[in-house]
Amino acid sequence: MKSAQLTKNLTLPCGAVLKNRLGKSAMSENMGSRGYTSNEKFNRLYARWAEGGIGLLITGNVMVDRFALGEAHNVVIEQGIKDSNLPLWAAAGKKDGTHIWVQLNHPGKQSPKFLSKEPVAPSAIPLKKPLDRLFNTPRALLEEEILDLIARFAYAAKVCKESGFTGVQIHGAHGYLVSQFLSPTHNQREDRWGGSLENRMRFVKEVYLAIRKEVGDSFPIGIKLNSADFQKGGFTQEDSREVVQHLSELGMDLIEISGGTYEAPAMMGASQKESTKTREAYFLTYCEDVRKQVSCPLMLTGGFRSAEGMNAALASGACDVIGVARSLAIQPDFPNQLLSSATVTSQVKPLTTGWKFLDKTFPLEIIWYTDQLHLMGEGKNPNPKKSALGSVWNMVYKLGKNSIKKVR
Ligand SMILES: Cc1cc2nc3c(=O)[nH]c(=O)nc-3n(C[C@H](O)[C@H](O)[C@H](O)COP(=O)(O)O)c2cc1C
Repeated sequence: MKSAQLTKNLTLPCGAVLKNRLGKSAMSENMGSRGYTSNEKFNRLYARWAEGGIGLLITGNVMVDRFALGEAHNVVIEQGIKDSNLPLWAAAGKKDGTHIWVQLNHPGKQSPKFLSKEPVAPSAIPLKKPLDRLFNTPRALLEEEILDLIARFAYAAKVCKESGFTGVQIHGAHGYLVSQFLSPTHNQREDRWGGSLENRMRFVKEVYLAIRKEVGDSFPIGIKLNSADFQKGGFTQEDSREVVQHLSELGMDLIEISGGTYEAPAMMGASQKESTKTREAYFLTYCEDVRKQVSCPLMLTGGFRSAEGMNAALASGACDVIGVARSLAIQPDFPNQLLSSATVTSQVKPLTTGWKFLDKTFPLEIIWYTDQLHLMGEGKNPNPKKSALGSVWNMVYKLGKNSIKKVR
């Protein structure tokens, strides 16, 4: 039996059409070349995903400033960087009418010590313990720097369009710069960029408007947004609903709902109740609420594992697109299976190194799944049986090397 809901196409406000309701949520590839450019590994990986039947591919985060990286091997799009591989990457992801959108990001204070001596943020507030050991205290952005960052997002979007990508997504979630501006704990500015929610959302609105001016009305622009930060005094569901309302009115084409930050990683399922995990979608209740309020298409990401869960979320009307990440890192053809059968389930399982201390110390999910992306980038098959301990060991080895020599 076919997956009735997943196979339907979707017309976005800008007129672009997604061929089905499955979206690959961003997963940072961390495999750029020296000079911050993409390379043939990206082309192989995205061709593989496009062949897997997905309707929308959202790339891993691409940065807008080489001096503000989230990971050592991020791709960067900014003035002065010429990336001749971008059109090939876009072409690979467009196979069979698939959409491929670039996720544009600035990490703000979530740029680790070995990459940023002095990261920037809305306010000079450090990440809380124990993360302050890994990330330096940021410096507060000046007004002219904020304006420059807005222009950088717009420039990067223009390059994406010229290179053949079919859309862009602003990374407004997970505690990076846009999300720092939205948060009352991380943004304590007293000028027009901070204070009231209206002021805190000015940055994201200006980023959206600047991009729209560059790419025109018929090019899709999306955003990934937190349903909440899951922190005391942080960005709440009420705040989030208001931001969604404003962005929807401005003409946003797709709002992807996630949640959490490095300080409270709810996006990966951390501290979600067992009942929520069983129901699959971590942020479904929020999405149901916000759906009543806005007309903008919604993509819901986090925790989806089965055709049954996905079809049920779509049938309820809570969301229009199902976002999937980890399953696609080990099963690139999962979409084809989901579209042709209403009973398939992902092979994603909880990970452990066998050592509690290591499981707690390292971002195991990120490390292990990134290794799977690298295997596909090299033209190999993913390896769901790969040892988690092996992935951690590899990372420690690479970090050790990087700390004694400058990477790029
Ligand atoms: C290796 C890895 C890298 C990720 N990188 C990003 C990223 O660059 N941008 C982003 O918005 N989310 C990123 N995420 C989060 C995913 O997009 C997604 O929100 C999360 O994995 C929950 O979805 P899932 O349960 O289907 O995996 C990453 C997740 C993983 C596993």
